[in-house]
Amino acid sequence: MTEWDRKIRDKKVTVGVLGLGYVGLPLVREFASAGIKVAGFDIDAKKVAVLNSGRSIIKHIAHSQVKRMVKAGLFRATTNMAGLKNVDAILVCVPTPLTQNREPDMQFIIGSSKTIAKYLRPGQLVVFESTTYPGTTRELVAPILQSSGL
Ligand SMILES: NC(=O)c1ccc[n+]([C@@H]2O[C@H](COP(=O)([O-])OP(=O)(O)OC[C@H]3O[C@@H](n4cnc5c(N)ncnc54)[C@H](O)[C@@H]3O)[C@@H](O)[C@H]2O)c1
Repeated sequence: MTEWDRKIRDKKVTVGVLGLGYVGLPLVREFASAGIKVAGFDIDAKKVAVLNSGRSIIKHIAHSQVKRMVKAGLFRATTNMAGLKNVDAILVCVPTPLTQNREPDMQFIIGSSKTIAKYLRPGQLVVFESTTYPGTTRELVAPILQSSGL
């Protein structure tokens, strides 16, 4: 068993979810319901305030579920991206709407990658959940993350 296996087993990891929408919030709920602490990050201050007050922002997640996670200390949302340095894994769930040419608009992936690069530290896992074309991680994201010097 590796050090990480033990940390996960003992629920000593903290997961960061960047982008608290239709994909991000259900992910938060799954980790929290397994007893894993989740830090949520979003640029939308209104959304962050609603979530921290124990209310949901999407139909298929009940207010009571959000309230329970917040009350149990398993979930807290913030717009302060500096907190990214405190999490063990960063799951990126930002939008990739289609452009007029029906190609994914990469501005949110690029923006969030730049943010992560500022706080990235050795040992962190970064996962992109957003829908995009094959090669995005290697060709677009990795060079931005490498600008951190790692
Ligand atoms: N909704 C679905 O059922 C579904 C299914 C499959 C795939 N996807 C894909 O998942 C991704 C996310 O979709 P969604 O429906 O959850 O989007 P959403 O619009 O519901 O949520 C995205 C969130 O990301 C936040 N955000 C944007 N830029 C950010 C940044 N730089 N840093 C932090 N937060 C930022 C937004 O404020 C918003 O709250 C998209 O690529 C989408 O195509 C969605």
